[in-house]
Amino acid sequence: MLLLAALAGGILTLAVHGVEPPKDKDKGEKDSPKSKSAELMRKKLLQSQKVLEGIALNDFEKIIEHADELIVISKEAEFKALKTPRYDLHVDEFRRNAEEMVKKAKEKNIEGATLAYMELTLTCVRCHKYTRETRMTRSDGTEPVAIGE
Ligand code: HEC
Repeated sequence: MLLLAALAGGILTLAVHGVEPPKDKDKGEKDSPKSKSAELMRKKLLQSQKVLEGIALNDFEKIIEHADELIVISKEAEFKALKTPRYDLHVDEFRRNAEEMVKKAKEKNIEGATLAYMELTLTCVRCHKYTRETRMTRSDGTEPVAIGE
C-alpha cells in the first residue's frame, strides 16, 4: 500500500514536471548560465514528449511543430554544455534525427517518423552518458552533472 502510494506520487511528480514548463524564473539565479541551460534541457524533454504524442496520434502537424522546436533548441548556445568535438557530434546527430522526423512527417510516413524518434531517443541517452563520463573524469573543477539519477 505504502509503496503504491509512493509510486503514484512519483508518477504524478513526473507528469507535472513534464507538462509544466518551469515558471519560477524570478527566484534567484535566473540569469546564471547554469539555470538557463537546465531550462533549455527541460524544454527539450517537453518537446520530445510532444513529438511522441504526435506519433501516437498519427498527427503529422504535431510531429513537425515539435520536431522543429527540437531543431531550434539544438542551435541554442546553451545546448553546447561541453566544448569538445565529441559533444558536437552528439549535437549533430540529435539535429539530424530531428530533421529526419520532420522529413518523414511531411511525407506522412509514420513508420519513418517513429524510427527517427527512436533514434533521437538514443541520442539523448548517448549524449547524457558521454556528458556524465566526461564531467566525472575532468579535473578542471567543473561540477559533476546529475542526469538520470
Ligand atoms: C548533445 C548532447 C545532449 C543530447 C543529444 C541530449 N541532452 Fe539532455 N542534457 C545534456 C546535458 C549536457 C545536460 C546537463 C545540463 C547541465 O547540467 O548543464 C542535459 C540535461 C538534461 C535534462 C535535465 C535538465 C535539468 O533539469 O537539469 C533533461 C530532462 C534532458 N537533458 C532531456 C533530454 C532529452 C529528452 C533528450 C533527447 C530528446 C536529450 N536530453 C538529449 C545534453 C544532451
